[in-house]
Amino acid sequence: MGIQFDAAISTFTLQTARTTYRMRVDERGRLLHMYYGRRIGRGDLRELYPPADHGFSPDYYPCRRRRGVSPDVLPQEYTGCNVGDFRLSCLVVRDGMTGAAGADFLYDSHEITPGKYTLEGLPCAHDEDSEAETLYIRMKDPVTGLVLVLLYGVFARQDVITRAVRLENAGTAPLRLEKAASACLDLPFGDWDLVHFHGRHAMERKMERPPLPHAITTVSSTRGASSHHHNPFVILCDHTATEDHGLCYGVMPVYSGSHRTDIEVDQNGLTRLVTGLHDERFSWQLEPGESFTAPEVLLCCTPDGLGDLSRHYHTFLRRNICRSPFRYARRPVLINNWEATYFDFNTESICRIAEKAASLGVEMMVLDDGWFGKRDDDNTGLGDWFVNEKKLPGGLQPLIERVNALGMKFGLWVEPEMVSEDSDLYRAHPDWALTLPGRTPAMGRNQLVLDMGRPEVVDYLTQRLSTLLRENHIEYIKWDMNRNMSDVYSRALPPERQGETAHRYMLGVYKLLDRLTTAFPHVLFEGCAGGGGRFDAGMLCYFPQIWCSDNTDAIERLSIQHGTSFGYPVSCMGAHVSACPNHQTGRTVPLWTRAVVAMSGTFGYELDLGRLTDEECDQVRDQIKTFQRYYDVIQNGAYYRLSDPDRQPRYVAWQTVTDTESLVSLVLTHPEANARPLHLCLKGLEEDALYKVDELNVYGVTATPESGDNPASQVGAVCSGSMLMYAGYILPHLIGDAPSVQLHLTRLP
Ligand code: GLA
Repeated sequence: MGIQFDAAISTFTLQTARTTYRMRVDERGRLLHMYYGRRIGRGDLRELYPPADHGFSPDYYPCRRRRGVSPDVLPQEYTGCNVGDFRLSCLVVRDGMTGAAGADFLYDSHEITPGKYTLEGLPCAHDEDSEAETLYIRMKDPVTGLVLVLLYGVFARQDVITRAVRLENAGTAPLRLEKAASACLDLPFGDWDLVHFHGRHAMERKMERPPLPHAITTVSSTRGASSHHHNPFVILCDHTATEDHGLCYGVMPVYSGSHRTDIEVDQNGLTRLVTGLHDERFSWQLEPGESFTAPEVLLCCTPDGLGDLSRHYHTFLRRNICRSPFRYARRPVLINNWEATYFDFNTESICRIAEKAASLGVEMMVLDDGWFGKRDDDNTGLGDWFVNEKKLPGGLQPLIERVNALGMKFGLWVEPEMVSEDSDLYRAHPDWALTLPGRTPAMGRNQLVLDMGRPEVVDYLTQRLSTLLRENHIEYIKWDMNRNMSDVYSRALPPERQGETAHRYMLGVYKLLDRLTTAFPHVLFEGCAGGGGRFDAGMLCYFPQIWCSDNTDAIERLSIQHGTSFGYPVSCMGAHVSACPNHQTGRTVPLWTRAVVAMSGTFGYELDLGRLTDEECDQVRDQIKTFQRYYDVIQNGAYYRLSDPDRQPRYVAWQTVTDTESLVSLVLTHPEANARPLHLCLKGLEEDALYKVDELNVYGVTATPESGDNPASQVGAVCSGSMLMYAGYILPHLIGDAPSVQLHLTRLP
């Protein structure tokens, strides 16, 4: 396992527990991608790529007579620019003196080191357990002097390979990057489906799985955020792959800004994926001696289906991406006042919510938008991170003391990257906002985006937020970002560097987050961007949890959380129980079903608890106790999807499993008359182990028909893992509006 270089055949092998990744420096010094997939043994992969002359695919110059050796046909590890490979390109680089766009990289040297590389200014996977190895391959373009350093981090046990790219101008003329991708992945054969996660505000990460056409398919965002619309995580899976079988490749950028992944199926059936920063309006000046780093990408491959791929990412993100001390810590059950009060609150009304919440077992009170500046609606005040004393006389601390006296922690909402025109900050620094010269800007939620690429903006926010955190006993921050970036123009950059503005913005955000999360490690940070508009591995480096969606309707959340689960673990999905009729959809769902869905995330409440009946309050008390009882299996268990909305539109079901217990959750979304009871085949259990059905809770059923004679349906039944997985389990017959079930199994010793 690990990284090997076989000098005799100039071949690099990255070996993980179940996968092999191989590259070779060919006779001409180019780095060819030879293989990535399930583990293979010895053998000379050169034979897979015999010379073959393809019309209109140009040959390398030395092969011009013999023909048949073309950069347009051979699988490339990272492409050059404008030198005969007409497929998707990784790079566009222009010589500042001649204007020529061109680069053709030749192998220079390599280095293999223990541990994992880091990237300056960018988030990336870490290796606290010292299990990773790093490979640096240095390539050089002889004409421009541009050096390409390919970085590989190999986490062998976890079957994850990280990749990143550094471009260094070792020449004498300035260079201009117009595209600089993070990675290229060439799969020379196969029939692939693209699994991607699209959506919109309040309906994020809907899974879609089209087959790849002989064309270029793009998943991208130009919004300055990873976006609600196209999550940067994509999967290529074999056309026959299922949850449990089949070859799958995951590609997860560790980046939160504009991104682009293109996938091309070429003339020969080779599939090329190129991923990285979006190149629209992007450029980067590289003066002699300067370097540029493209963000990291997490690659994972498994022969065991989509479910196994998800579980690999869940473990990896939690262990090697999240850095927060909270990544494994027990997080508090919270109450957030947003959907309870919106902007209309004061110390007394917040304390009333907190008192009620404390009496039901809630552990933290989060004060959302509206506590600062002049902020009675969403038109004003962003940027003025000073307490609004009309609402909160004496500031935050008296409120916090009252909340703490109830035995609760206190958390606060902020949206630091934004500014309202009607704010003291904007009046003092209008040039700190991104706006185009001579144009009125497009407004999102009537607010502007700060130019986070300016060091003075980052310094100002560091100072202001640090003071806030030092002067008040705040134990949680919800970090929001409520519009996308248009009018991208920095007042601080010269004309030739304007193409750097959007990426510099992200670097500034990362710097600010790095400073604050390092200085205040005891604060639990939750990311948010109008819900899940920046739900990505870059943000997870700073935030162990992210608010999944502004859509709190439990039925809609089933689909959002289902899609999210393909790449991201339960421990990072912010989910709350909210009021009914739901504020986004008007739907009414039983209170317990709302809790079953929210429990598959970080769990909290977001409603006016004062309006609940006594019976509902008792339910809330029970829900919190249930969540706390199941906490370990929900948050730390391996996650299995038990339903596919396309195949079983009647219900959504999922299961988490640890060594000692398992919890199955199901919500019936479409009750049917005269239907067979639900028959579930469980997953992830030990075949020969015995499991006791120790809790079976059915919620929200309007009438309880016979549960049938199946002995396994009885609480107390003992069944083998193999029976539960292969013969299955019959649930009590459910009817009603969105009833739900939680089934808890304990493994017998
Ligand atoms: C965003 C968030 C919400 C809430 C509002 C406040 O939309 O996603 O949860 O915090 O902002 O303005």
